[in-house]
Amino acid sequence: MELKGWILHCRAGYEETLAAEVIAAGKRRGVHGYCRARPHSAYVVFEAPAGDAPLPPPLVFARASAGLVAELTGLPEGGRAEAIAEALPAGLGAAEPWLEHPDSEAGRPLARFCRRFAKPARHALEAGGVATGDPRQRLRLLFPDSRHCLAGVGPPGQWPAGIPRLRMPRSAPSRSVLKLEEAIHRLIPEPERPYPGEHAVDLGAAPGGWSWLMRERGATVTAVDNGPLAAPLADDPGIDHRCADAFRYRPRGEVDWLLCDVVDRPQGITRLMTQWLRAGRARAAVFNLKLPMRHPLDTVRRALDALADAGAETHAAQLYHDREEVTVYARRADSRGGG
Ligand SMILES: C[S@@+](CC[C@H](N)C(=O)[O-])C[C@H]1O[C@@H](n2cnc3c(N)ncnc32)[C@H](O)[C@@H]1O
Repeated sequence: MELKGWILHCRAGYEETLAAEVIAAGKRRGVHGYCRARPHSAYVVFEAPAGDAPLPPPLVFARASAGLVAELTGLPEGGRAEAIAEALPAGLGAAEPWLEHPDSEAGRPLARFCRRFAKPARHALEAGGVATGDPRQRLRLLFPDSRHCLAGVGPPGQWPAGIPRLRMPRSAPSRSVLKLEEAIHRLIPEPERPYPGEHAVDLGAAPGGWSWLMRERGATVTAVDNGPLAAPLADDPGIDHRCADAFRYRPRGEVDWLLCDVVDRPQGITRLMTQWLRAGRARAAVFNLKLPMRHPLDTVRRALDALADAGAETHAAQLYHDREEVTVYARRADSRGGG
């Protein structure tokens, strides 16, 4: 099926950054088009006038994405579901379409509308032969408002609107645990995720959310922070707390994981990460890069280029739990197959 472009969700305020990333990614794939990116709308539409777009590639500033099939405006209040079903080609996607709204101030109140409209939409799409239960792709309906629908198809594995449904575990010492959990699911392919018996160094570990999650996954941790860890972690024999400077600490041998949640200039964090990876001190790293107000895309590109020069393969994204930052997973290419 021909796609007319891409529908992309992002953090509100990053539409322009995402648009620049999308245009460049389109060009690399030979897909030319333009973006509609209203400030603070939390979504971007990339239109390819030739109607020849493939499914969208992973993008750092896109939380979720889908191929654009149709855009419907001025939908009637009555018969809205039937109007959508009529406008879409038959045999489009899975039986359970996702109804999404932008994660913006204007978009969040539409959550109620999406919940209520889910059933009529499903019935109309099934009756019209649009949703056929194909498990390979999912039908996605984004409503910027209740009369405006961007219909698309996307891979089945993503979260609706890129917002993960993660519960804050009761015994976790900080909400940062959700960020690492999201990073593991979103950025790290399943066979490469942390597993029991591995060892991690956690730079800037306090109060200890990331260390806590690594312990939950069965790893042991060296937690480096000048500040104290939360009470239950301080007594955990699987955690070795070092009061040291994250920029100076070095492990004795190679560790499986380097985690870094130190808030510092992105150039300094990138340098620290590339030093560890290049010197073979860690096989893989997960870390945050604080974004500057100006040219955040250039900052991320430079960091990813430096990591590639250091022999690392990367996946990076501005996660739902990230604010003015992105999270990066980097793995030494020569460590693949070793776990
Ligand atoms: C955002 S918090 C980390 C939260 C942690 N990931 C968690 O899950 O609870 C940043 C931490 O970095 C530590 N930090 C900042 N600069 C540091 C440095 N140069 N050396 C060691 N720790 C540092 C701070 O003390 C602070 O505890």
